[in-house]
Amino acid sequence: MAQIYSRIMATGSALPERVLTNADLEKFVDTSDEWIHSRTGIRQRHVVVEGETTGDLATLAAQRALDAAGVKAADLDLIILGTTTPDIIFPSTACLVQHRLGANGCAAFDVNAACSGFVYALGIADKFIRSGQSKKVLVIGAETLTRMVDWTERETCVLFGDGAGAVVLEASDEPGIYATCLHADGGHKELLYNPVGVSVGFKDEPNHGVRIRMSGREVFKVAVKTLDSLVEETLNAAGMDASQLDWLIPHQANLRIIEATAKRLNMPMEQVIVTVDKHANTSSGSVPLALDFAVRSGKVKRGQNLLLEAFGGGFTWASALLRY
Ligand code: ACO
Repeated sequence: MAQIYSRIMATGSALPERVLTNADLEKFVDTSDEWIHSRTGIRQRHVVVEGETTGDLATLAAQRALDAAGVKAADLDLIILGTTTPDIIFPSTACLVQHRLGANGCAAFDVNAACSGFVYALGIADKFIRSGQSKKVLVIGAETLTRMVDWTERETCVLFGDGAGAVVLEASDEPGIYATCLHADGGHKELLYNPVGVSVGFKDEPNHGVRIRMSGREVFKVAVKTLDSLVEETLNAAGMDASQLDWLIPHQANLRIIEATAKRLNMPMEQVIVTVDKHANTSSGSVPLALDFAVRSGKVKRGQNLLLEAFGGGFTWASALLRY
């Protein structure tokens, strides 16, 4: 029997209209554009307004991807949504988006793998397609991380933004996705986490509620080291070497982490998609947003080889090597 691959038909993305620049932040946080830009590469981020949700951004990104693919929502047989900021506890945001798109009946679920959520979702979708279970799958990464940012905490609040990206995958005789690698190590929980939730309770400290805790310098070190071995593993799994890659589409957390991975792959920055300056860290939204920007700007073309990678809370880390 011929091998089945999953292939990206089209991409889409969505950002909140409201933009918060580093200069805007300087007005109410003890920080500076110089500090933020030199440490992270970030110049601005998009931020949701009151009432705007992860599901709103996800629905818009998904509709744009479906339109670009020429696929009707009713023809989907699976929706997987990577998010760590769902609209409500349940139903899953994937179910909320499914109904708004009009895809009722197909399987739909969320994946919580923090910043690796989209790449995890892509890896799972690929397995569904390769097994013959699904033919057309919508994969989304969507977040409103600024909903759990404490705007008085300068170590974290300058780093994050909101946004969503999506791809439509279809079963194909030709690649497609060559390899995906998914990993986690729960032993590093304390370095990057949000300690509140349903089972432990929502109020841990007065006036703080739901907020991100992060040991930035430690996360940085582990991320660089882990991504180094991840890209090697992914190339091996696909039977390729770095010279066959056309583009690196990394998680957009910090330009210095991105540059370290590019260096490891011996890729010039001209072959790396960078959107962290405009979007900041949108967690699960980051990789599909960068992919959609690269496709719609004409940088990424059909037939090119792309390496997608992400690292986030858990820790989780994941990659996909594919022919677009
Ligand atoms: N503005 C001005 N000064 C600041 C700010 C700010 N926003 N935040 C911290 N500082 C100060 C600190 O207080 C410290 O001051 P001190 O030297 O007087 O004590 C100084 O700047 C240096 O702080 P460091 O934490 O050492 O700065 P560093 O160069 O490590 O950069 C950063 C911090 C940007 C958080 C970096 O460590 C990083 O990006 N880490 C990765 C974290 C990350 O990306 N997390 C997201 C999720 S995981 C992922 O996506 C990879």
